Amino acid sequence: MNILVTGGAGFIGSHIVEALQADHNVVIIDNINDYYNPEFKKENLALLRPEKFYQVDVTDSTALTEIFKDHKFDLIIHLAARAGVRSSLLEPDLYAKVNLLGTTNLAKLAMEYNVNRFIFGSTSAVYGDTTTVPFSEDVNVNEPISPYAATKRAAELMLYTNHHLHNIQTTILRFFTVYGERGRPDMAPYLFTEKILKEKEIIKFGDGNTSRDYTYIADIVQGVKAAVENPFPYEIINLGNNEPISLNDFIATVEKVTGKTAIIKQVGMQPGDVHQTYANIDKAKKLLNFKPTTSLEEGLNKFASWYQNNRI
Ligand SMILES: NC(=O)c1ccc[n+]([C@@H]2O[C@H](COP(=O)([O-])OP(=O)(O)OC[C@H]3O[C@@H](n4cnc5c(N)ncnc54)[C@H](O)[C@@H]3O)[C@@H](O)[C@H]2O)c1
Repeated sequence: MNILVTGGAGFIGSHIVEALQADHNVVIIDNINDYYNPEFKKENLALLRPEKFYQVDVTDSTALTEIFKDHKFDLIIHLAARAGVRSSLLEPDLYAKVNLLGTTNLAKLAMEYNVNRFIFGSTSAVYGDTTTVPFSEDVNVNEPISPYAATKRAAELMLYTNHHLHNIQTTILRFFTVYGERGRPDMAPYLFTEKILKEKEIIKFGDGNTSRDYTYIADIVQGVKAAVENPFPYEIINLGNNEPISLNDFIATVEKVTGKTAIIKQVGMQPGDVHQTYANIDKAKKLLNFKPTTSLEEGLNKFASWYQNNRI
């Protein structure tokens, strides 16, 4: 297939491109913004062999149209987004522009250029503070608690409309706290590993009883590959590990894999942060044969050795 991956220079995108390019022609769009060090994204690109890379912003519909004129895509995997919960509180307008307008631009071009398939990287953040666990795809997600979550949910809704009106086969994948090699430097797995290795203080938000369903990147890639191989008219599917870990246990695991003791400064919970994430993955098992196999300790071990070889 000819596949367009937006956000392909980023963390998850670069792993997905790497996995797909053996069997498919992959084109990447990424604006290489400075939300975190753009050099990391350039390094990711250098590892890949995309058929073509375009440094283009998904909010720029004119530039996007030129790309669609030059390529006949069979599938769009849309991952380009502003992805941090906390920074979304400061720049909700930017998040709305990139996450909703950017998605709408791609949905419109899919319709105009007969791209019949769309896969969207959504997030567990859409579940907000849902208390019914594990989170199932069929619960109401109408109370997002951060602009990030609200804009990703809005994008999901726009893609449903696009499917309804234009029959575009659409799979929405809700990722749960993804970590691993080339991981995002603003996320806890990276931040805590870095600080603990360097014997610097880490900031713990809350009492440590919040929990996250940390999911190792290779497991996510398996799920995305299965979604590429199995089109559906329209589905929302969780990709998580189905094993929430408290922040305290998470820190203890980072201490174990680095062999160092964390210096912890505890502060209050951050507005916008959910108390827990916990994926029900029955649907992913049934539709995608999804089976995450990497324990947190195993995944963090791989991440910590990658970090020591590539970032120190
Ligand atoms: N990492 C996670 O735990 C996680 C969890 C749930 C959902 N997601 C979603 O997965 C996707 C990828 O996230 P990631 O963690 O790899 O983040 P990332 O920031 O590493 O990757 C996103 C990429 O998109 C690019 N991008 C951002 N705005 C753009 C724009 N306007 N035009 C073109 N490119 C743009 C960035 O430069 C970056 O390379 C995002 O849609 C995110 O919302 C990630």
